[in-house]
Amino acid sequence: MDATSTCALDLTEKVIASLSGCEDERFRFVMTELVKHLHAFARKVDLRSEEWMAAIQFLTAVGQTCTDKRQEFILLSDTLGLSMLVVALAQMRASKASTNAVTPATEATVLGPYYWEGAPDLPLGADLGAGVRGEPAFYHGRVTDTEGRPLAGALLDIWSGDGEGVYDMQLEGNAQMRARGRIRTDEEGRYWFWSIKPSFYPIPMDGPVGRMIEHMRRDPNRPGHIHMIVSAEGHVPIATHLFVANSPYLETDVVFGVRDSLIVPFERMEPGTASDGRVMDRPYWEAHYDFRLAAAK
Ligand code: BEZ
Ligand code: FE
Repeated sequence: MDATSTCALDLTEKVIASLSGCEDERFRFVMTELVKHLHAFARKVDLRSEEWMAAIQFLTAVGQTCTDKRQEFILLSDTLGLSMLVVALAQMRASKASTNAVTPATEATVLGPYYWEGAPDLPLGADLGAGVRGEPAFYHGRVTDTEGRPLAGALLDIWSGDGEGVYDMQLEGNAQMRARGRIRTDEEGRYWFWSIKPSFYPIPMDGPVGRMIEHMRRDPNRPGHIHMIVSAEGHVPIATHLFVANSPYLETDVVFGVRDSLIVPFERMEPGTASDGRVMDRPYWEAHYDFRLAAAK
């Protein structure tokens, strides 16, 4: 081995040794592993100066694209599968900590950039999709613990795009919430509400992450889904989605958020009286899903 290659190898050890005075054990461990993997990566791809500079410029552009309404770094993390990995690791950690659950908690998935705190509290049966483009859909089910016991008063904080895949936050100059609401379960842990059947849509493609996706020749779309954060006192909240079965892009979700257990059939119903008594003069969709929350330790 010549002197230059010895220097390249020593470098990693030197950087790791420079952390020896760090008293924050977790931070030291994370940074040590980061340095190890970063250096191993540079060696593996034999990173060229111009490639390194292109990466620096790309990350700079990612940062410059962030505003109070747009988080391009999270989008980068989402599209590289890191956000979903962090979600899955958190749930694995929680399930190891919890004992003898009869059924596992509902699987979580990415939060995404369109959560808006402070959605209106609505009664059971409310129509979140009133005035929103799209075909009506009736959603219902129960929230239980992992033993199957109903959770009364559990909160579902729900949001989706419209039937064309556009979120309220994306509408130019629109500060009005739509297709959002907070619903609480009844005494038997049941919930039901109306909204629209969500459509697939592309992630924001007009920034550096979009250019990366194009260069990778990847499809920018997410399959149709509706988001919710489900929570109940004494239980671990989950941020999750229900995905529309048979939606395009279930296999290629650009943020890798699909989990089989979250794919839900949407049954097409003819006009008539829906199961909550609402009289529908046009066809609608019906989706059923039961959520399970693990007890908090
Ligand atoms: C969403 O589902 O809303 C979403 C998630 C990650 C990136 C972009 C959009
Ligand atoms: Fe979404």
